[in-house]
Amino acid sequence: MRSPARQLPVSVALTITASCASRARARAEPARLTLKDAFASAFLVGAAVNARQIDGADSIGEAIIAHQFNSVSPENVLKWAAVEPRPGRFNFGPADRYVTLGERNGAVIIGHTLVWHNQTPAWVFQDVAGGAVSRDSLIARMRAHIAAVVGRYRGRIHGWDVVNEAVNEDGSLRRSPWLQIIGPEYIAMAFRFAHDADPSAELHYNDFAVEGSAKRSGIVRLITSLRAEGVPITAIGMQEHQKLDWPTTGAIDSAIVDLAATGLKLMVTELDVDVLPSNHGQRREAVEQELMRTGAPDPYRAALPDSLQQALARRYGEIVRVYLAHRHAITRMTFWGVDDGDSWLNNFPVRGRVNYPLLFDRRGMPKVAYDTVLAAALASRRN
Ligand code: XIL
Repeated sequence: MRSPARQLPVSVALTITASCASRARARAEPARLTLKDAFASAFLVGAAVNARQIDGADSIGEAIIAHQFNSVSPENVLKWAAVEPRPGRFNFGPADRYVTLGERNGAVIIGHTLVWHNQTPAWVFQDVAGGAVSRDSLIARMRAHIAAVVGRYRGRIHGWDVVNEAVNEDGSLRRSPWLQIIGPEYIAMAFRFAHDADPSAELHYNDFAVEGSAKRSGIVRLITSLRAEGVPITAIGMQEHQKLDWPTTGAIDSAIVDLAATGLKLMVTELDVDVLPSNHGQRREAVEQELMRTGAPDPYRAALPDSLQQALARRYGEIVRVYLAHRHAITRMTFWGVDDGDSWLNNFPVRGRVNYPLLFDRRGMPKVAYDTVLAAALASRRN
């Protein structure tokens, strides 16, 4: 779904971006405003960057990142499988280039992620015979991995998603290999190891579907007990993978209120809005797994109908207005990708569909949703 325009050199890309700005000007004043400027008094605005953008193979994406965003997150290059694919054999090339890209842009650079059940090689949890590794060895592996990765970027990566997605929908702890082999203490250990490796880095707990009330309560319980134990944790990342009709703005609002009451800062870490019919208005893991097996409709392969384009814009507007109302609790709003062609939602929960979840279209042009988001920021500056 890449248009040939995406291969243009940076100079041309910048011209295109400039003409985007003038189109945006016609629809949303004032002139030449970018996302990072419009939200400057509220919070940082970030984007997850992918390998093509890091390696200079997507000049339009790179130009949008430089122009529009003041924070970057690594979509995949800092995950365990990418940096330590084999025991003790680190591959830091793409991650180094990611950090360099962030520094070149003067952006706040995020690390994602240290301890997760996905994109972690099987060897991490196995002994030489292929059985489950011992508790002590797994703790040692976790400590060594965190020390190497966080230590390498000490003082350069501003904040880390230390533990990702540890809580189930019902609020209990996910029975990941981390939990099964180490026990619930693995979470506190991960934060302590990260703090040892870079005492000045912000350390986040990151999760999705925090609007579900049972899950949200589980996260609040977890954070409260970590804080009571003196674990070095500074923020909660709310992924915010949203749908057109889920969750309600009331649920987003009360999730923010409840999570902020823990005393930690909040960050919107992976914002996007899925427009495809898939989960019947919910974000349920069981439904997603069923869809992965059975497939699901892919109705907008050629284009998104205008009515949906407008619905997406309204939805983005209402979501971002909730974040803005809580600007004192929220320090960053990061989109999970730059343009629609980049989005993981073209392949999740079903591979190979055509989705439209972000603010820029597949040619890197700002969509109506971009204008709505910008307008929400401007309106809140006037209030
Ligand atoms: C996704 C990436 O976007 C995909 O490219 C990859 O294939 C799978 O992971 N929650 C997270 C992110 O914390 O790391 C995930 O990123 C999306 C869901």
